[in-house]
Amino acid sequence: MRRPDQSVPKPKTAVPGLLRADAALFRGAPDDDVAAVYDRAADRYDHFRELWLRLAGQGAEDAMLAGLRAALRPGTRVLDAGCGSGVLARKMREIEPAIELTLLDFSKAMLDQAADIPGDRVQGSVLHLPFADASFDVVVSAWVIETLPDPMRAVQEYLRVLHPDGQLLYTFCSLPHGWFSRAGSAWLRAAVHRGFAGDFLDGEHTPWHDCERSHLQRFSHGLTTEVALRSCCEVGAPVLPAPL
Ligand SMILES: C[S@@+](CC[C@H](N)C(=O)[O-])C[C@H]1O[C@@H](n2cnc3c(N)ncnc32)[C@H](O)[C@@H]1O
Repeated sequence: MRRPDQSVPKPKTAVPGLLRADAALFRGAPDDDVAAVYDRAADRYDHFRELWLRLAGQGAEDAMLAGLRAALRPGTRVLDAGCGSGVLARKMREIEPAIELTLLDFSKAMLDQAADIPGDRVQGSVLHLPFADASFDVVVSAWVIETLPDPMRAVQEYLRVLHPDGQLLYTFCSLPHGWFSRAGSAWLRAAVHRGFAGDFLDGEHTPWHDCERSHLQRFSHGLTTEVALRSCCEVGAPVLPAPL
């Protein structure tokens, strides 16, 4: 019998904080309906996002936040394309509370998680943005394009709605170079694919334009990438910088 002063030992999990219910997201065949995937994951999404940053995403996220710190001013019109639960939107509001924020996502459940964030909320697709040309000073899209059937099309849309002086920033999961990094990351790539419909983009599918006003940075052995483009950029067949 347990004495009153004995605390109940906590069960050990393979990943800190990973619940049995969370594991269900990774079972079964990957779902083709990406909105349904995120509707299902919405209430636990922030927990996985945190885990993703710890495992691989933090470098790219920090690079994007550095770009946002330089770009955000009072009144800056910002589109968070594929905003999810609004984690990044909250960070942007901390950087500059007086931005004019538009949050867009096609998952209603994800948008609902961001209901407390001041700004316009739009349920729609990043592949057909419901905004006029040149509507935003900053477009940001974190960990979205790798979930799309046509990442190039989304980035063309982001550039279309960008003001001529504007800036586009995005992060995504990318395929590392070299068999060692590919083999070592296979389990993580499979989990992201199964649980979150994310495909790690290779060079051929990476929207990118090389000029003196753009940059592309890779992190975590190439598993994540951060890109900054300007409205004059045109994305097409990419010529990527040399591997790490
Ligand atoms: C991995 S989450 C990233 C969410 C958020 N940007 C973040 O940084 O946490 C991908 C998000 O993209 C959204 N998404 C995927 N395809 C989309 C599409 N075609 N149009 C709009 N949103 C989409 C999903 O619903 C989900 O919220």
